[in-house]
Amino acid sequence: MELSQDTKNILGLQLPTDPRWVNLAEISLEAILTDHAYCEQKAATSCISIIQRYSDKDKLVKALAPIVTEEWGHFRLVLQELEKRGLQLGRQRKDTYVNALLQFQSKGGSPDAVFLDKLLTMAMIEARSCERFKRLSEGLNDAYLSRFYRRFMESEAGHYTLFIELAEEYLPKDQVRKRWTEWLKHEASIMQEMELRGDRIH
Ligand SMILES: [Fe+2]
Ligand SMILES: [Fe+2]
Repeated sequence: MELSQDTKNILGLQLPTDPRWVNLAEISLEAILTDHAYCEQKAATSCISIIQRYSDKDKLVKALAPIVTEEWGHFRLVLQELEKRGLQLGRQRKDTYVNALLQFQSKGGSPDAVFLDKLLTMAMIEARSCERFKRLSEGLNDAYLSRFYRRFMESEAGHYTLFIELAEEYLPKDQVRKRWTEWLKHEASIMQEMELRGDRIH
């Protein structure tokens, strides 16, 4: 899959990742791989939770079941990279970014609004992961790791699309688009706050 070269607007994201982040990755590959490993693990468990909660939605269950396998496969690939390099899977860090996204989810709204926000949270995380992997792929001075991250970038872009398509499968397109625009705007403000505080995203 070919993605736009414009990293600023990749998948509609309104703010690019701070370019310093790639340098950080070069400094502490162990930390980046550890955080990445947990990201993949959480992607798998989140898909399982959605399947459990919306077991009546046949299409969704069928679409997400293989994603669980794929995300778990990603987790294993990252583990392999750590092992190959003699690095340790560290402890899971508090995920400020994901926690901030979760706070934006509709809680007391209609079941449809809650469902939509669950899917859009997943789409948001996939979109931002995709952008990060693109940055890593383009910014790391290591041909092997560049390819490694490019594969993840392509895969997460496909997942982003899938979550948006699933939302449109069950809900009116207008509603999905409108809410997605709100998510993009809110995510940009989260990014900005985190950058000001000097937080890492993953
Ligand atoms: Fe993944
Ligand atoms: Fe994914």
